[in-house]
Amino acid sequence: MIIRSQKIMGAILSLMIIAMLYSCVNDKRIEISSPDGSITLELGDHDGMIMYSVYKNDKLIMEPSAFGLKTDQFDFVDNIKILSKHSKKHKSKWTQVWGEQKEILDDHKELFLRLLSNENDHEINLRFRVFNDGIGFRYEIPEQEGLDRFNIIDELTEFNFAENSPSWWIPAYAYRRYEFLYANTLISEISRDKFSDLVENLNGPRLGPEAVQTPFTVQRDDGIAIAIHEANLTNYSSMTLKANGTKNMECDLIPWSDGIKVRTQAPMNSPWRTILIGETASDLPMSTLTLNLNESNKLGDPDWIKPGKYIGLWWEMIGTNQSTWGSGPHHGAKTDRVLEYVDFGAKYGFDGLLVEGWNTGWDENWCCTGEGESFGFYEPHPEFDNELISDYAWKKAIRLVGHHETGTQIDNYENQLDSAFAYCNRNGIRVVKTGYVNDGSQNIKRIDEEGNVQKEWHHGQYMVEHFRKVLETAAKHEVSIVVHEPIKDTGIRRTYPNMLSREGARGQEFNGFMPIDAHNKPDHTTILAFTRMLSGPMDYTSGIFNLKEYRYNSPDDRTINTNHHIPSTIAKELAHYVVIYAPVQMAADLPENYQGNPAFQFILDVPTDWEESKVLNGEIGQYITTVRKDLSSEDWYLGSITNEEARTINIEMTFLDPGKEYVATIYKDPRDGGWKTKPEEVIIETMVFKNGDIYDIVLPSGGGQAIRFSPKG
Ligand code: NOJ
Ligand code: CA
Repeated sequence: MIIRSQKIMGAILSLMIIAMLYSCVNDKRIEISSPDGSITLELGDHDGMIMYSVYKNDKLIMEPSAFGLKTDQFDFVDNIKILSKHSKKHKSKWTQVWGEQKEILDDHKELFLRLLSNENDHEINLRFRVFNDGIGFRYEIPEQEGLDRFNIIDELTEFNFAENSPSWWIPAYAYRRYEFLYANTLISEISRDKFSDLVENLNGPRLGPEAVQTPFTVQRDDGIAIAIHEANLTNYSSMTLKANGTKNMECDLIPWSDGIKVRTQAPMNSPWRTILIGETASDLPMSTLTLNLNESNKLGDPDWIKPGKYIGLWWEMIGTNQSTWGSGPHHGAKTDRVLEYVDFGAKYGFDGLLVEGWNTGWDENWCCTGEGESFGFYEPHPEFDNELISDYAWKKAIRLVGHHETGTQIDNYENQLDSAFAYCNRNGIRVVKTGYVNDGSQNIKRIDEEGNVQKEWHHGQYMVEHFRKVLETAAKHEVSIVVHEPIKDTGIRRTYPNMLSREGARGQEFNGFMPIDAHNKPDHTTILAFTRMLSGPMDYTSGIFNLKEYRYNSPDDRTINTNHHIPSTIAKELAHYVVIYAPVQMAADLPENYQGNPAFQFILDVPTDWEESKVLNGEIGQYITTVRKDLSSEDWYLGSITNEEARTINIEMTFLDPGKEYVATIYKDPRDGGWKTKPEEVIIETMVFKNGDIYDIVLPSGGGQAIRFSPKG
């Protein structure tokens, strides 16, 4: 009897405590600011819905925006009760295996809210981290009685911008994955029709809502730049942003073929929803928030993960059109031709050689509709003498870069995965470039439990999980990965440093296989720097020197197709190695286009692993100047690029070490040059600089400038 009444008393007491907590936290606004005080996150109760607002320098930049999850077992939308809140500070440094900078500071304040969805008493938590460069938050569903597996039907997170600002975006639910030029419109003007008007006609059946991919970047009238993205996309589907004709956007998760957004189970953490915030646009590329919101390194610092530079038997297929991937008189990956590439790579100290068309499966109809299941990932083409080539390359200190084009035949690839990476390991292949060409919307075959074929999107949970499986299997066999047609980067490289680089945007290849009116425009890389590059490294494949008259009509008809002219200059191609970060960079042109060209020296010199990086200046879609310090010397490198507009950018050499003099080797366009007039003319000159010196970077239309600074003496 006494025990019973004690229990009742205990229960009453707990209820009272919970009730007290409700009243303290539910009545109040909750506020948390970044360590430097410049960014404030404010949470408030809006008729039972918890909403967040964001301030930068006391200016409202995100108006009250909702959280929300709908699942097949519970909803977390309104009637939310706050059970408790905890906040803490965190400050630590961690070291990257490779990267734009060696050390990263993780300095943030965290707020953790334990919440109860009152309709059906499910616990769901929100964790916020506020950094000096932005905000991240995620949903956490803890283990709890009566909840095991469940499906997310919708995520309702809102991003209600305070202003209807200009934005830079590519469409989601469009046939060519992330490979589009960017549209620049007000947020309220986002639509696929607008994209078809401004950028490229999105033909074909329209599936899915009006939505854009992330990173999605906007810039306000006061100069503040904001990018919405996500960090640590694991066991979830990608977030796109739904547009509705206003300045407000809402999370839209790419669904499975049956409409379910995420198949999951408790405990579950969603990816972090991130809001990168910069006082100016040039703050954004220096943000470390995405990496800071990923789990720490699971692989250690093994010696098989190596940054570096590679050449490739590649541009002769995709660019110059003289060779083919498949069999026939023009098959590129023939033993003798590969050995020539090895010799060239060895002569100039490259450490990787990509060879495409080395394996079987290219002769069947694999491209680009998701048909054809014939790729063999450990079966060399009969004209590619693997043993001879591997031995020869090994002796010359060249590592072959493997190539696994899957045509999105996921089952075919997954069935061979283990053997494919074991083959790499046996043959000294340290890096594999994978590929997922399939130009249909929602067109990736998945065989379900009943053996039926389902069609999945490139960016849904099915593919998120596939890409992770590949990464983990590759790590097991000590192989690193560069993915083409990937899932977007969300900073996973911190946890798996064998995730070296990826495409995930319109790369150089479009200047190969597309006609002149569909080439990358001169502003393209000046947009990428503030959009796609915010997510992580990119395999853009810069370094084309033969910019005019480079493409044959066909492998048989070796007359020049005059409908091609890359809108770039050699100096800009060089500058990309600094501006577009990747730990493995390709020198993409043919050996014969480099031999004898003194500008090639910059590609040989430029490192791919950095101590430190800074963006000196930049405006989205106009220009950017980036400097980086070499990790293994005292050298600095500068890359500056412009769009169609000629401009002079005045810089102060604030980054150079005071007290030292530097010899600068400058690679620049002629003043009257530019992509149209003198794309292949580079002026190379030397100057001496010290900290504080002023210098004018003169950039003609579509041009660039690259500089190596080495301490004197
Ligand atoms: C598209 C990739 O982006 C390109 O680099 C590759 O050569 C082709 N697919 C073939 O795999
Ligand atoms: Ca591609």
